[in-house]
Amino acid sequence: MKSIWVTGGAGFIGSNLVLRLQEEFPAAALTVIDDFRSGSFPNLEGFKGDFVAADVSRMDWENEFHGRRPDAMFHLASITDTTLQDQKIQTHDNVEGFRRLLDYLRPGKTPIVYASSAATYGIRAGVNRIGDPLAPANAYAFSKVQLENLARAVKAEEAGWQMAGLRYFNVYGPREGHKGVPASMAWHLAGQMLAGKRPRIFKYGEQKRDFVYVKDIVAMTIAALKSGKSGVWNAGSGQPRSFNEMIEGLNKVLKTKFKPEYFDCPYPFYQPHTEADMTATKRDLKIEPKYSLEEGLEDYFKSGWLTKGRGKAATKKKK
Ligand SMILES: NC(=O)c1ccc[n+]([C@@H]2O[C@H](COP(=O)([O-])OP(=O)(O)OC[C@H]3O[C@@H](n4cnc5c(N)ncnc54)[C@H](O)[C@@H]3O)[C@@H](O)[C@H]2O)c1
Repeated sequence: MKSIWVTGGAGFIGSNLVLRLQEEFPAAALTVIDDFRSGSFPNLEGFKGDFVAADVSRMDWENEFHGRRPDAMFHLASITDTTLQDQKIQTHDNVEGFRRLLDYLRPGKTPIVYASSAATYGIRAGVNRIGDPLAPANAYAFSKVQLENLARAVKAEEAGWQMAGLRYFNVYGPREGHKGVPASMAWHLAGQMLAGKRPRIFKYGEQKRDFVYVKDIVAMTIAALKSGKSGVWNAGSGQPRSFNEMIEGLNKVLKTKFKPEYFDCPYPFYQPHTEADMTATKRDLKIEPKYSLEEGLEDYFKSGWLTKGRGKAATKKKK
């Protein structure tokens, strides 16, 4: 591969992906397209490629790239604040960005891997399987369903064009701190613990989530491209774990002994359990997540990013 483009490459998953691609394809020219609305340049320390600071949903792709097209495209740019209620902005920016990208890449049929989300399944509890009816519960999730619909429609017109969507589950790991509130529970709970406070979770911490380490997500994203296949797959750990277990894991890596502080959940419905069925991912993309929650947290801590930028308390605890 001579040239690889990544939208959203200044963000959490995007930057991890870009840095991994740089290692795996050292001869390829990498280009990141990101408008920094939620991404952050320090995530790309060590990046040797090109950077286009632009909004993919408003950019004139032809004018920007003058007919140059990559050999592979990873599309991760998206509004990632799921609480942003503005339906028009969520749908416009997320869907039109993908539509423009598809229009521009159509002549060369560049293989595409794009980020969808487990949020497309909605708030139904239990195992989420490909083929389950989708029930987006917010505008963010709705926009991701639209991405999948768009990919399916274009694929029906252009049979030979690879278009792979991944429904990422609850991703955690290095380079997520810039996200603020939408960052993972691992990041937020560690922050409370590093500040010397008991980690706060909803009563009684037994709700389970499919927490998945970002290195596994990156590996699945690259495997999706390499598979040459089109479709939509789950990208989770397949191992739902509780918030209590997350705190136990964090206590271990931070060498602390905090007990959770439980408080009432303010929501009338709160998912007791999310879980990715990984059968199709393993079968089609020939990949399995490697990191258990404990291994992921250990690797996250060792990277230095779990404690980075947390102030004096964090630095002290890390020693
Ligand atoms: N982190 C998770 O747990 C998770 C779960 C499900 C799906 N996803 C999806 O994975 C992808 C990456 O998410 P993330 O967690 O890294 O979030 P992030 O907010 O860190 O990254 C998103 C990046 O996209 C950029 N961006 C947003 N809109 C843009 C636009 N119109 N033009 C150019 N750049 C734009 C942002 O500046 C940011 O750098 C997103 O598509 C997200 O919806 C993430």
